[in-house]
Amino acid sequence: MPGFSTEPQTVLAADMLGVPIWGWQVGFAVAGVIALVLLARTIWEPSDASLRWWALGNVAVNAGIAVTGATVRVTQSGLGCSEWPRCTPDSFVPSGGDHHPVLNEAIEFGNRMLTFLVLAVGVIVVVALWRRYGRHGRPDLMRMAVVIPLGVLGQGVVGGITVWTRLHPASVGTHFMLSMVMLVVTVALYLRLREPRGELRPRVDEGQRRLAAGLAVVGFLLLAAGVVTTGTGPLGGDLEAPRWGFDLPTVTRVHAVLGWATALGAVTLLVNFLRSGAPRDLRRYAIVLVAAVAAQGAIGYTQYALQLPEGLVVAHVLGSVVTWVLILRVYFGTAERVEVTTPAGSPRAAAAGR
Ligand code: HEM
Repeated sequence: MPGFSTEPQTVLAADMLGVPIWGWQVGFAVAGVIALVLLARTIWEPSDASLRWWALGNVAVNAGIAVTGATVRVTQSGLGCSEWPRCTPDSFVPSGGDHHPVLNEAIEFGNRMLTFLVLAVGVIVVVALWRRYGRHGRPDLMRMAVVIPLGVLGQGVVGGITVWTRLHPASVGTHFMLSMVMLVVTVALYLRLREPRGELRPRVDEGQRRLAAGLAVVGFLLLAAGVVTTGTGPLGGDLEAPRWGFDLPTVTRVHAVLGWATALGAVTLLVNFLRSGAPRDLRRYAIVLVAAVAAQGAIGYTQYALQLPEGLVVAHVLGSVVTWVLILRVYFGTAERVEVTTPAGSPRAAAAGR
């Protein structure tokens, strides 16, 4: 789009207190691992509460890395590490900004380090679940928990493809959308953890459940359209990054229309919940969802009018992740697992919990 700035970022000092920036980042990663070791008891002998906290952590780190990934993109740091899995052709860590400014190297390398945190939390949830319930205690939860670390490893590969394709928008977009899929699993796991093993029963009427499912589908399309808008606009992660050849105002309009459809769906669901006296948590989350969608729309229009200032774009991505988590929270909250009261040994009881 004419007029949008694609100026490279300011170059910062290569080191702090004589230690290279990447040294600080590795240090923080090591400190993170030490912190996890100190929390080992909550993993090896987990209580219901500590399991829930770890599952919430799973949601937070998966949401967080999508936002830090956007920071990499808007600061044009996508090729700060020009290789994968190495950072430069001959080093696994940044080696001094030959091709990219040191700040860009640090931002990209820092995001790569965060992958280990996301992986660690995913593995911790699997271990804690296994310690709490054994191999066969809650297969429904275990299946979801296992998907998460595998997904992180898959995301590592997509990240590599993104670097190898020099930030092709299809790869950048897939990377973001896969994070959104990971959030589906982490939010479902967090909610189901609080429920007993048993049958899945609706908490609202069928129409409301369908509406919540429809909202999740429209929300997902909205995210995908946002990603295409980004892939068409100027903030591709590097000045040389390939772009979609679409007309930016047109794709932005499609994205905004889906934003309005999401807003309409959220308001309709909220009104329905309020009128039917749906459970309190659902009413509360639906209110927050409507507020989040309104804020997102306001940021979206403002950033477009102001020609995509970096800070607002990152805020828009943060808002997208929050909105998506709320949509998922509402959808998964429309049903819950309840203990089966039919006599043990009956076919119905045996089927429950599968
Ligand atoms: C609930 C509402 C909305 C959600 C959840 C949402 C979500 C998103 C997402 C996920 C992206 C892609 C981010 C990325 O690839 O890193 C995006 C980009 C974008 N959105 Fe939205 N959006 C919403 C509403 C709007 C509205 C109403 C506008 C108004 C024009 C808008 C304008 C934009 C623009 C211009 C971009 C591209 C930014 C760039 O080039 O980096 N959004 N949005």
